Amino acid sequence: MARASEHYVCQNCGAVTRRWQGRCGACGEWNSIVEEAVAATVPKGPGGGKGRKLKLVPLDPGDGLELPRLATGIGELDRVTGGGLVPGSAVLVGGDPGIGKSTLLLQAVTLLARDGVRCAYVSGEEATRQISMRAERLGALDAPVELAAATSIRDIVATMEARDAPRVVVIDSIQTMFVDALESAPGTVAQVRASAQELIRTAKQRDIVVLLVGHVTKEGQIAGPRVLEHMVDTVLYFEGERGHQFRIMRAVKNRYGPTDEIGVFEMSDAGLIEVPNPSELFLSGRPGGAVSGSAVFAGLEGSRPLLVEVQALVASSPLATPRRTVVGWDGNRLAMVMAVLDARCGLAISGHDVYLNVAGGLRIVEPAADLAVAAALVSSLADRPVPEHSVFFGEIGLSGEIRAVSQADLRCREAAKLGFARAFTAPAAKRREAPLAVTEIDRLQALVQLFANDGGGDI
Ligand code: TYD
Ligand code: MG
Repeated sequence: MARASEHYVCQNCGAVTRRWQGRCGACGEWNSIVEEAVAATVPKGPGGGKGRKLKLVPLDPGDGLELPRLATGIGELDRVTGGGLVPGSAVLVGGDPGIGKSTLLLQAVTLLARDGVRCAYVSGEEATRQISMRAERLGALDAPVELAAATSIRDIVATMEARDAPRVVVIDSIQTMFVDALESAPGTVAQVRASAQELIRTAKQRDIVVLLVGHVTKEGQIAGPRVLEHMVDTVLYFEGERGHQFRIMRAVKNRYGPTDEIGVFEMSDAGLIEVPNPSELFLSGRPGGAVSGSAVFAGLEGSRPLLVEVQALVASSPLATPRRTVVGWDGNRLAMVMAVLDARCGLAISGHDVYLNVAGGLRIVEPAADLAVAAALVSSLADRPVPEHSVFFGEIGLSGEIRAVSQADLRCREAAKLGFARAFTAPAAKRREAPLAVTEIDRLQALVQLFANDGGGDI
């Protein structure tokens, strides 16, 4: 008889400790450690506890490669997965509750099912009738998707092992599933991990795609899908700002494709609509006419150029420690750009309140945005609009030099396509014929000069 022993598991990161602690030593989260019971022994194999010899096979180019990917037909989803779902792989789709995970996955399986791929949608959160209502809203009631409301991993695995098993299985969500051999409640790290392990093992054996939905919550009450990240093949995060209808899907891990691609969607009455040209969308809300404090950044997300508006508001501050508020960009990076403006260009910006916002709810991580941020800041400080119809990109160094960034041609082409006439960027050793006018800026002082001269608006 296996004796159950007690141990303590952090519900945020899965770290195991012997004693209860108020704060997890591994991830630093407070109040996330709970007691969990585990079976003390490993289940015995059929050979009376002794392992069986593995069946070793040689490297074979045909082995595993012959199964074609399953393209969902949702272009943005296929792009982030690297060209479609790989049979036998496990994909984790994480995101805040209500962001649209269930909607997107239901859309994906209805499209696949219409293409003749057998798909099952297993929900532990909704009744089948509710899933049907959602499908009706999506205009997909005719798709031959098979539904189940279930939470027992034993039953789900049996379904996957049956002769007529589906090729794609959605598990919505992994936090509601449970393995009956474990005592802990569904949603605890032990259950989430054991459930995922069983599903992934079966998926690999049977070449089934499993799509796991995982809620991310800050409270640490429900096991964050973080513990699953190393178990699955692909991790997709679905994010978006509250109050914006844009949703961005990002691959943070992908064994079968690139990890820097994003997919852009818009939530509508009839589900998620893909946005094939996100630049248009992100620029659509720009104020008409020239306004100070706004600059367009010609960015790059994965292989795709993306234009976004960077907005800054620089206001004199009554506070001893002026306020800095950054949305969609890195606060440390902003501090650096401001320090360079201060020290190298003599702009007295550090005593001001500064608000910086990337419009549309996108989060930019590229250092190439430095120049656009600097342009927005100086424009707001000088209360002069940036030159009309222009875009900015380039990295700023600590001595105030502007450094070239990758894929300048691609960025310029996208800007020209959307009607921009001029790009401000770093000097480049060789540049192909650009489809728009390029103004090379070698030092940050030259950018500041733009706003000091009279007639800065028509450069
Ligand atoms: P949902 O897919 O249930 O989110 P998650 O599974 O990530 O928790 O999406 C829920 C939100 O999406 C909800 O607020 C309603 C909205 N929604 C639409 O706006 N249009 C639609 O067609 C659907 C199905 C949902
Ligand atoms: Mg859901």
